[in-house]
Amino acid sequence: MPQSYRRRIILRVIMNQRKIIITPDKNNYAESFVSELKKIISGIDAGMQISIAVSGGSTPTPVFEILAGAEAKNIPWDRIHIFWADERCVPPDDPESNFGMTEKLLLSKVEIPATNIHRIKGENNPADEAFRYENEIVEFTVSRNRIPRFDIILLGMGNDGHTASIFPDRLDLITADNTCATSVHPDTGQNRITLTGTAINNAANILFHVTGRNKSELVKIILNEEQGFEKFPAGNIKPVSGYLFWILDPGGAALL
Ligand code: 6PG
Repeated sequence: MPQSYRRRIILRVIMNQRKIIITPDKNNYAESFVSELKKIISGIDAGMQISIAVSGGSTPTPVFEILAGAEAKNIPWDRIHIFWADERCVPPDDPESNFGMTEKLLLSKVEIPATNIHRIKGENNPADEAFRYENEIVEFTVSRNRIPRFDIILLGMGNDGHTASIFPDRLDLITADNTCATSVHPDTGQNRITLTGTAINNAANILFHVTGRNKSELVKIILNEEQGFEKFPAGNIKPVSGYLFWILDPGGAALL
């Protein structure tokens, strides 16, 4: 096979590691998201544990509701280890807690073993907890290039292009050496703990779910890699050797 032809195939595979799904209706992005999630899970060997890191915010709500309801019986909860891509530095019963939201909408309604739930302890000192959580991740996930490798990471994107709790003023976290770090929400001053871009980009599957016309300009800039896309943390999320999915509702995709 001529070298150039083989190179073109490899390039196409690399280019094809990104899948953009635009749902026909704003009300069914969650179904599409769950459908992709189930395909990925079904592709993982039956004997293997599955590490999934979820995000907070409002976008996950209908996704968690489907996973806790109609699809609950189709998910191998006993094999799933759930982590968080980030957490607000608040107690678990605080309305701001990502764990609290996930517990209320999903974890309290499915048969996932308590030992498979790896909460970021937002009540702890942020720096100490980032260190502790990093060690818990290492203990319960596989590694690639000596970096923890999540099977699946679910991400949202803020109006400023942040993802997890990597904000535009902390692009250093995209390539930080460690797996977890502390950050501060630029508007509220709230302390956060977050996976770094190094950990996120080492994942096997990264799934963004982004909805709403208010994010469509950023979606266009990032997905088209227009000038300045790299200023946005979400624009720096590219799996080193995994798959990237952007699941958009019509509003989020309005300018594509
Ligand atoms: C958080 C999330 C954050 C979220 C985006 C999008 O802790 O708030 O992890 O990164 O995914 O802010 O939030 P919405 O889903 O509410 O748009």
